Amino acid sequence: MTDSLLSLQQRHIASLQAYYESLMAHFDIDAIALYSGHASAFFADDHYPAFQAFGHFVHWVPLPHAEHCWLVIAPNTKPTLYLHAPEDFWHLPTQLPDEPWCDAFDIIRISDIAPPAVSPNTALVGDINALPAELRAQLKGIDAPEALYWALDEQRMHKSDYEVACLREANRRALDGHRAAEAAFFGAASELDIQLAYLAASRQRESQVPYQNIIGLNAHAGVLHYQHYDVQAPYQRHSLLVDAGYRFRGYAADLTRTYAGPDAPSVFADLITAVTNIKDTVIDAMAPNVAFLDLHTLMHRYLAEVLVAHGLFHGSAEQALEAGITRAFCPHGLGHSLGIQVHDVAGKRLTDGTPCPSPSQHPALRLTRTLAPGMVITIEPGCYFIPMLLEPLRQRGLPLNWALIEELLPCGGIRIEDNVLITPNGRDNLTA
Ligand code: GLY
Ligand code: MN
Ligand code: MN
Repeated sequence: MTDSLLSLQQRHIASLQAYYESLMAHFDIDAIALYSGHASAFFADDHYPAFQAFGHFVHWVPLPHAEHCWLVIAPNTKPTLYLHAPEDFWHLPTQLPDEPWCDAFDIIRISDIAPPAVSPNTALVGDINALPAELRAQLKGIDAPEALYWALDEQRMHKSDYEVACLREANRRALDGHRAAEAAFFGAASELDIQLAYLAASRQRESQVPYQNIIGLNAHAGVLHYQHYDVQAPYQRHSLLVDAGYRFRGYAADLTRTYAGPDAPSVFADLITAVTNIKDTVIDAMAPNVAFLDLHTLMHRYLAEVLVAHGLFHGSAEQALEAGITRAFCPHGLGHSLGIQVHDVAGKRLTDGTPCPSPSQHPALRLTRTLAPGMVITIEPGCYFIPMLLEPLRQRGLPLNWALIEELLPCGGIRIEDNVLITPNGRDNLTA
């Protein structure tokens, strides 16, 4: 790890300490105890799913898979990290790296899952209800007020220089995977083999990815969160959509690319270029004080123009927008905040915690805020051919080019996704 990243991390932890101290004063509490959480075994089984630690814990401690750990923060003192690392001959106990962040904490290794002894005026933050009842009964603190959660979430929305460096590195490594996935597709690989090529090139195992990679060939590219990997390569290759990331020190990349295969109609490649241009044009409009909803609306306007220009809609862009046609071609939001969680926290609350819901016409929009420096946002326009969304347009007799849509259905759809930092004067594309 580079010295500069590690020193940025020390400053990141120091600024968290200052922020948490301001919250303890504001809420009149002695301490905040963050619980990392733990996995639960499958029903009637002794096997566990892959575990991801609570985001506010990972905000401090770069151990994104650490279970049964606690971090207790109090004013004017080093935070205490209760590190669950029991002697175990079945598993390797959590190992600490030789990195300076360890010196920022008093580290106490614990071998059982009993919670730490904290003062009664300690706010407990995390999935406390998942603890067995007898352990919950031992906990002295108080349930954290909802407003404390909002304040902690709000801090996560504004990335420190350390977090931005992690997100940039996560992007770099994810791009290694995307290059390998593209090569595998042009080598006629199956979805499973594309997935394996992605994991190999980005150097990660499946339990470490920040979200399950979406690797859709042909019509599967039109299933927004397609969750399988066909083992056999299809006979015809129309398209590939890869939505896949990387988790670096707890921070997620979330990137999507779409490719036209040898069996796609030529208009599909043109549409990929057009959606890529929408992505770039929207990114150029990103800056502090811009409302994300306005960018989402801009994406729909450009998409309407693309549908008209490529002969998919016989009418004007205004008519396409008014009739809600672009929402059938792109039913998800333009993007979301990105950080420790792929769909990061605080996307739909104002800075003081007031709810800021998505408008009823765009229920899937995950970010309704005004952009500010330090936010890291995905921009992911799409254009899909999803029969269940297009069929109602046919029923309404709208002037769409159904012959062309039939030709494009086997291609599934297109999504192009980059990760962008808002800077004081504009933006910095972490994917570029
Ligand atoms: N990978 C999920 C998303 O793009 O939001
Ligand atoms: Mn994605
Ligand atoms: Mn995304």
